[in-house]
Amino acid sequence: MSEWWRDAVVYQVYIRSFADGNADGIGDIAGLNSKLEYIAELGVDGIWINPWYPSPLNDGGYDVADYRDVDERIGTLAAAEALVERAHSVGLKVLLDLVPNHTSSEHPWFVEALASEPGSAARSRYHFRHGRGDRSAPTNWRSVFGGPAWTLAADGQWYLHVFDPTQPDLNWDNPDVVAEFEAILRFWLDRGFDGFRVDVAHALAKDPTWSDFEDTGLDDLPPGSHPFFDRDELLRVVQRWRSVLDEYDGRMMVAEAVVPIDRLARYLGPDRYHQAFNFSFLEAGWDAGRVRSVIEDSLALGTSQTWVLSNHDAVRHATRFGLPDGVDAKRWLLDGPHHLLDPDRGLRRARAAALLMLALPGSAYVYQGEELGLPEVWDLPTDRLEDPIWIRSERSVKGRDGCRVPMPWTEEGPSFGFGGPDPWLPQPEWFGRYSAERQANDASSTLMMYREALERRRQLGGGVTIVDMGGDVVAFRRDSGHLCVVNMGSSPVPMPPGRLVVASGDVGTGTLEPDTAVWIGDVV
Ligand code: NOJ
Repeated sequence: MSEWWRDAVVYQVYIRSFADGNADGIGDIAGLNSKLEYIAELGVDGIWINPWYPSPLNDGGYDVADYRDVDERIGTLAAAEALVERAHSVGLKVLLDLVPNHTSSEHPWFVEALASEPGSAARSRYHFRHGRGDRSAPTNWRSVFGGPAWTLAADGQWYLHVFDPTQPDLNWDNPDVVAEFEAILRFWLDRGFDGFRVDVAHALAKDPTWSDFEDTGLDDLPPGSHPFFDRDELLRVVQRWRSVLDEYDGRMMVAEAVVPIDRLARYLGPDRYHQAFNFSFLEAGWDAGRVRSVIEDSLALGTSQTWVLSNHDAVRHATRFGLPDGVDAKRWLLDGPHHLLDPDRGLRRARAAALLMLALPGSAYVYQGEELGLPEVWDLPTDRLEDPIWIRSERSVKGRDGCRVPMPWTEEGPSFGFGGPDPWLPQPEWFGRYSAERQANDASSTLMMYREALERRRQLGGGVTIVDMGGDVVAFRRDSGHLCVVNMGSSPVPMPPGRLVVASGDVGTGTLEPDTAVWIGDVV
């Protein structure tokens, strides 16, 4: 059986912002189709497409109204079928986003539930409960997006939503829910899709005692004791999904499980997920000690690793790395001070971090635009923000729109080649400098560095040995005889001897400058 995913590089397509084939301001399948060669030439092995299903788009499509179709603004089911075939023909696997924790409030099941009696079969597919006393929610749980996790329905019952009120949580103890999702998996697997990225995989099970709870974060809690995150019961569901996937050849699922790294292992294995995102790497910052220990902890998991630097939920790493140590990038988006940002340093570190990630064993997930060194658009006008976090947090958290701004393909022209003149989020005037067109003609560009590294990465293999080159340096050797060295300190370090394979910045005088990474070959 093919285990292509074990060392694959997967390119994340945030489809609404990738390429807009019909110029209506929203990226779509036609646009993605026109860029498949670009993705294949980059040298990745597959793509993961963020939700493309019919949706009122209250949370960027993570509010699904129909799991067996494509939103008409994005394409058609026939176009999706043609896309997977064409992707395969250029050597790319295709993963879809499965959103099992919640539906949209416009999903027919939820519409039916609202119209049905308390205690009805339709309501039991979700978590409807009576409140406590007059107008008091069943528990004190808070939504991840801010505000209470319960909303009062017209007849006095409350329903649970760990995210937005328009994203009611499904009840995974209900057999209808279990059966429906198995059918949804088969629907896409039968159409040739290669697997799924599973949204909030750590949230499916809820505390059946419905007790109040003061949230201090998973790190401080005994395992399995949070009322709606990382509970043991959720693994039952995963085991059933895995047996469905195993009926097909070479399919996989990767969990978005936001849990401490020592809890990640139990999501993985031959009867569970094939992979789970490793967000500790994303959070490690530019700190050699932390990065080394995240690498060691991740390797100790013993299964296929995943490495992630950015995604559609995080401040882009070219910006994160341009902020002084200790500054929380999410808060900085709102409060600044914005002069603290050093974009050149951010880009240097982003390039070095990419070489670090791509030298590690296992697989890497590359977020669209990071191959261009694209920064966060941190100054979007607040009246254009769409992320529900902005409103739900009462404008105290700016949200994730700044990493979702439509891609710059060309140096000039309407929406920098994205599509029509009026993209759903405005692009800044400097976007063209980062365009794929401009970088394709510049041998020193970030795009060309990614292409080179992705090609050379195929020569890397085998285990990892951490090498001590000083406290501020992350260095490790792969069994294939390659050494990866990243200087995270503030002074140059001696360049190790050997053949230079790829570098993230200028090298030459026998030293490795700060904020720079290299791969050295033929190391014995
Ligand atoms: C995680 C997704 O990545 C994020 O974008 C979304 O808002 C939440 N899950 C809720 O579905």
